[in-house]
Amino acid sequence: MTAHAHPHHASVPAIDQRALRDAFGAFPSGVVAVAASVKGQLTGIAASSFTSVSIDPPLVSFSIATSSSTWPLLREAEHLGISVLADHHDAVCRQLAGPREERFDGLPFKVTGNGAVLLDEAVATYDCSLHEEVVAGDHVIVLLEVHDVGGGDGEHPLVFHRSAFAKLHRDDLDPARLDGRINGAEVDRGTRESDSATASRDDAEDAA
Ligand SMILES: Cc1cc2nc3c(=O)[nH]c(=O)nc-3n(C[C@H](O)[C@H](O)[C@H](O)COP(=O)(O)O)c2cc1C
Repeated sequence: MTAHAHPHHASVPAIDQRALRDAFGAFPSGVVAVAASVKGQLTGIAASSFTSVSIDPPLVSFSIATSSSTWPLLREAEHLGISVLADHHDAVCRQLAGPREERFDGLPFKVTGNGAVLLDEAVATYDCSLHEEVVAGDHVIVLLEVHDVGGGDGEHPLVFHRSAFAKLHRDDLDPARLDGRINGAEVDRGTRESDSATASRDDAEDAA
């Protein structure tokens, strides 16, 4: 299947850019480091646009601004590392988005045999190669093929929401309301009732 671009209708009034940014910012995300050693040069950025795409073949994506000065270098990497930042990585995230020559200063990381750079203490890591680039307005959607994944050492992810960093507060959530399955996988429960009670409610929800 090929990508289809829908024509832009000139009659539709332009959306206020501030309102659009606010709406985009209302959607919470994690943040990843996309990094590689390219021709011996450490190269990378912080990106909140990371998302999983496909299980078979294994694909993930992120979007990079067409104005990026790093992407033309990073896209030449044999393999790219994705590291899901942990909630103590707020300063690391700012550094990875800052001046290019300082982005890896003092950072603990590993370089794989193929040149992917994976940060220590990440929540998860992915060893990837470039699969496809799709130009989308002022960004390029970068599809990456995943060759290897790691659990990482960090436990809790850094959250990016409304232009600020946050942490997950799972303890605040009412376990009774959240109990159940998401995409067929068991949700990690703190306190749980008997399995039979849980199963019958799951069946009821599946049928609903
Ligand atoms: C939390 C956070 C998330 C970011 N997410 C993205 C992103 O998804 N895509 C992107 O192009 N830039 C993103 N940036 C900006 C890049 O990290 C980097 O600053 C930008 O690419 C400019 O540098 P460059 O010209 O070297 O590419 C993000 C920055 C921060 C702080």
